[in-house]
Amino acid sequence: MSQPDGKSTKPKFYLTTPIYYANSRPHVGSAYTTIVCDVIARYKRMCGYDVAFVTGTDEHGVNIERAAEAKSITPQQLVDQNEKIFRELWKLLGITNRIDDAGEGFVRTTSPEHARAVQTLVRRTMQRSPNAIFKRKYEGRYCIYDNAYVSDTPEPINCPTCGRPAELISEENYFFRLSAYKDRLLDLYKANPKFVQPDFRMNEVRSFVEGDLRDISISRKSIKWGIPWPGDPEHVFYVWYDALTSYMTAIGYGEGDDGEANPQFRKYWTADDAYVMHMIGKEIIRFHAVYWPAFLMAAELPLPKQIFAHGWLLFEQEKMSKSKGNVAYPEPIVKAFDEVTGAKVGNDALRYYLLRETVFGQDGNFSREALITRYNADLANGLGNLASRVLTMIEKYHGGVIAEPGRVVDFGPKFTETYQKTINSYDRLNFSGAVGEILANVAATDSYLTGTKPWAPTVEESQVAAERATILYRAAETVRFLTVLAHPVIPDGTQKIWEQLGQTGELADFRIDQLKWGELKPGTKIGKPEAVFPRVDKKQLSERIEAMENEIRNPGTSTSAGAGAGSAGPSTSLGTGAQNAPATAPATAKIGIEDFAKVELRVGVVKSAERIQGADKLLKLLVDIGDEVRQVLAGIALAYTPEELIGRKVVIVANLAPRKMRGLESNGMLLAASVGPDGKPVLCTFAEDIAPGAKVK
Ligand code: MSP
Repeated sequence: MSQPDGKSTKPKFYLTTPIYYANSRPHVGSAYTTIVCDVIARYKRMCGYDVAFVTGTDEHGVNIERAAEAKSITPQQLVDQNEKIFRELWKLLGITNRIDDAGEGFVRTTSPEHARAVQTLVRRTMQRSPNAIFKRKYEGRYCIYDNAYVSDTPEPINCPTCGRPAELISEENYFFRLSAYKDRLLDLYKANPKFVQPDFRMNEVRSFVEGDLRDISISRKSIKWGIPWPGDPEHVFYVWYDALTSYMTAIGYGEGDDGEANPQFRKYWTADDAYVMHMIGKEIIRFHAVYWPAFLMAAELPLPKQIFAHGWLLFEQEKMSKSKGNVAYPEPIVKAFDEVTGAKVGNDALRYYLLRETVFGQDGNFSREALITRYNADLANGLGNLASRVLTMIEKYHGGVIAEPGRVVDFGPKFTETYQKTINSYDRLNFSGAVGEILANVAATDSYLTGTKPWAPTVEESQVAAERATILYRAAETVRFLTVLAHPVIPDGTQKIWEQLGQTGELADFRIDQLKWGELKPGTKIGKPEAVFPRVDKKQLSERIEAMENEIRNPGTSTSAGAGAGSAGPSTSLGTGAQNAPATAPATAKIGIEDFAKVELRVGVVKSAERIQGADKLLKLLVDIGDEVRQVLAGIALAYTPEELIGRKVVIVANLAPRKMRGLESNGMLLAASVGPDGKPVLCTFAEDIAPGAKVK
């Protein structure tokens, strides 16, 4: 990414996240892409760019239709519910998705503006490239979960991405003649070798296009939930044609006959100096780096300048994904950090961890433990501690005023290097490099203070005051300098340190590209030194996050399905605790028999069952387990009526710690299979007559 040239007209930068499927709530994996984009957007604004930063929700398609059906609501109701959750999360995470001169940057594919944009784009394409779109019979296998064609022949096959059986599709469709764009795509990659980043992804894309590039179907007859084809409403648009177009809808495409009437669209997309960048996860690269440029070529519209495909956030070695049931959610992390510290640090903690821990572009692991460790080591004991150490000494020795250094301060050259390294890292989207450089300087400044001892400088008595002033000036200026550099990644904490240093205004408005060493003004009155990143107790915080995550997964209080009433969380393989895990849940690590023996499973007989007001998925059961009758809350109300459960033999996890839901105690958990994409619960039972209380082992 290049720097602005300093002219008065700001250079433009249009950045998009993928639009997220609105069939379920976001998890840390989906938040990752958005957080990364937010760091870039903040950084570019600090470099003087006019930034349009847009995210949104992908609201059409068969998986939305089915998810809604399972909940007995309409697709529109489902996406309305989930879209709100996305928006609220982005607010909670301080995401700056806005178009700098025109408000919020959020696009929904069910909006009327978007339908108009998609229809306009296809009409324009048919006018300008009459051979690009044609009708043909399609027979093949399609994965409804990944919205991808898996095979162009009707033989059964599993989706290579998610492993689930792909569905047979046989119908007449509109096709896009992708094969005709092969040479132009290869020319594009040749002329712009950075079109796809990182480089190894560019190579993958090139090889794919060099192979057998097939025409692709871009409409559906079998699906109702989509944008109707103009003049042929029996067809709706294929979700990817629909979704990709949202990048243009978001900035006003679709107005006027050719769609280009909106000035904002012209400014950010078609102007000569427009720079469009799509940030995506690696699994959706083909849609962005092959289909999308070809669609745009056929419509005679400018192409994005760069597609960056990042790696996955893994959880227990698997891609974090709701359909696999191995997810962590951002809200509990942020809220628990804030609650436990009594300070607004959760956002910074999550952002810092995600960007520091993973080499951007490659896969990375997510672990709650590592997140908390990083926070304590780098933010609490690192930057936060350095700031409060320096500020406290300024208060103590200089009455809370930045003192004139006693002699020439010569940190400049060192910081020119730090500055260059950090900025170069940001420009190359090497976030762990940028943050690593900043943290290395925090550590160096700590050692500098320890070595120079501003509380008792080892100089002649007459020089002590001047030496102390010099040391503290250097240290304070270093903190100011590093605070500016770290701002795009940790916006909340750096703003607080900025203010404590007596600096005014929003750090976000500071020009990072004009940052210079030595501009901290002597005489500045500092604010009250306060711990910006209070240390946390790992166990306490971890338990709090887990409890809050449970609230999200709890079937009685959230949108997810399942029967579990225990606190085991989603990674257990013991039946209904794995509420979101379908039958194809990934195999977890092997356990020893002694681990299994810790779980007390007993036969129970349901004595009574009733619905719980206000919790449409929960049933309250009394279960006889031989020596006692337990009250168990189970999220099975959508699959079983209370009546059919009376007398039923079930398997209960008898030694789970009791927990409260909806104010009622649940004392145990029923085992159930989790079936189909929506995890429909099917209770485990016995064919033989068996007394309640018998051990299951
Ligand atoms: N709706 C499509 C995108 C259409 S864009 C025109 C889609 N949606 S998604 O919700 O499945 O994924 C959105 C983004 O979240 C993708 O970039 C994906 O890579 C990212 N992530 C989802 N899970 C992730 C991880 N576990 N790790 C990192 N990113 C992940 O695809």
